[in-house]
Amino acid sequence: MKAYEIQDFAQTGKLRLVDRPLLPPPGPGQALVRIRATGLNARDLSIMRGLQFGQTVAPTRIPLSDNAGDVIAVGDGVTHVKPGDRVTMTHYWRWLDGNWDVSMRAEDFAQTLDGFLVEQAIVPAAPLIRLPDSISYEEAATLQSAGLTAWNAVVESGGVKAGQTVVTTGTGGVSVFCMQWAKMLGARVIVTSSSDDKIARMKALGADDGINYRTTPLWAKAVMDLTGGRGAEIVVNNVGMSEVDQCLESCVSGGRVMYVGANAVAPDRKDPVPKPLTRLPLLIIRDLTLKGVIVGSRAMFVNLLTQMAAHKVKPVIDRIYDFGQVNDAIAYMAGGDKIGKVIIRVQ
Ligand SMILES: NC(=O)c1ccc[n+]([C@@H]2O[C@H](COP(=O)([O-])OP(=O)(O)OC[C@H]3O[C@@H](n4cnc5c(N)ncnc54)[C@H](OP(=O)(O)O)[C@@H]3O)[C@@H](O)[C@H]2O)c1
Repeated sequence: MKAYEIQDFAQTGKLRLVDRPLLPPPGPGQALVRIRATGLNARDLSIMRGLQFGQTVAPTRIPLSDNAGDVIAVGDGVTHVKPGDRVTMTHYWRWLDGNWDVSMRAEDFAQTLDGFLVEQAIVPAAPLIRLPDSISYEEAATLQSAGLTAWNAVVESGGVKAGQTVVTTGTGGVSVFCMQWAKMLGARVIVTSSSDDKIARMKALGADDGINYRTTPLWAKAVMDLTGGRGAEIVVNNVGMSEVDQCLESCVSGGRVMYVGANAVAPDRKDPVPKPLTRLPLLIIRDLTLKGVIVGSRAMFVNLLTQMAAHKVKPVIDRIYDFGQVNDAIAYMAGGDKIGKVIIRVQ
């Protein structure tokens, strides 16, 4: 079967197409899945470049954690999915329900385990979720990283309510989903972007307002102006340390900053030195919460799929590439001009 491996991606910017042996039948508790679609995330580029939290990754690792496919066979003891079911799963697969535990990072598809840029995979069956009929493979393969992280940030941990204001930073994959989930649940959404054109595209997709963080670097003032001096209930920081001060400044009393992006400095800034955080006292003065977000559990993913199907919300897909065009898809993703997800149709 065909697969892509990371190999010398850090030097060449290209993945290598390889032949892998056919897989054996699944063992007890496992399932054999035909992969139909996968997708690209900022995280994948970091992993492939060897930059994800300084962790090394094997050159033979198959990348990409987003996934949708159908079950070919199941091993002994597997009863909740059967051959023919259309399925998807989280990439930190051991987080089924309840609270996160850092030990769950040890088993991460595309990082410590092979990912889904491959025709077939043997996976643990426990995290598999049956897809609602209304969600296509390509749509489902937008969700495991960006969609679920945004769902956790805005809904599960953020606790968004209709009528509240949500600020989401940038127009990347996570941010577009933050906008979609917040709008789906009746909130007002303000986005930030480096580009007026992208702000216009986000408004066409449902955002209420946009602020250009290049021309307005102290953009919290603009959030205050747009909310009549009140501020936002939820501010999703999809960038990292460089944006913490502005995120805190944008909050209403009792507001929450959801910390999603892990960059010390914004990717668009040349200066490699993180800015000192000067607005942390606002955590006390305004009774704010600064909460880390790590993707989401299987149970959260079930909630997301159920709500998405009920509200008939479709993910924003920028482009779909065929399996043979993977390196073109990566170059397009790295170019940064997209709005929404870049998907690869495997078969
Ligand atoms: N915590 C988690 O579990 C988790 C899960 C998924 C992703 N992440 C992280 O979240 C971040 C976003 O992921 P993604 O997949 O959405 O990335 P992406 O699709 O590559 O989007 C990156 C976007 O960041 C925006 N950006 C860059 N500098 C900015 C700044 N100074 N202020 C505001 N926005 C800025 C840009 O928006 P404009 O082009 O509009 O300027 C860019 O489009 C990455 O760091 C990723 O590793 C974390």
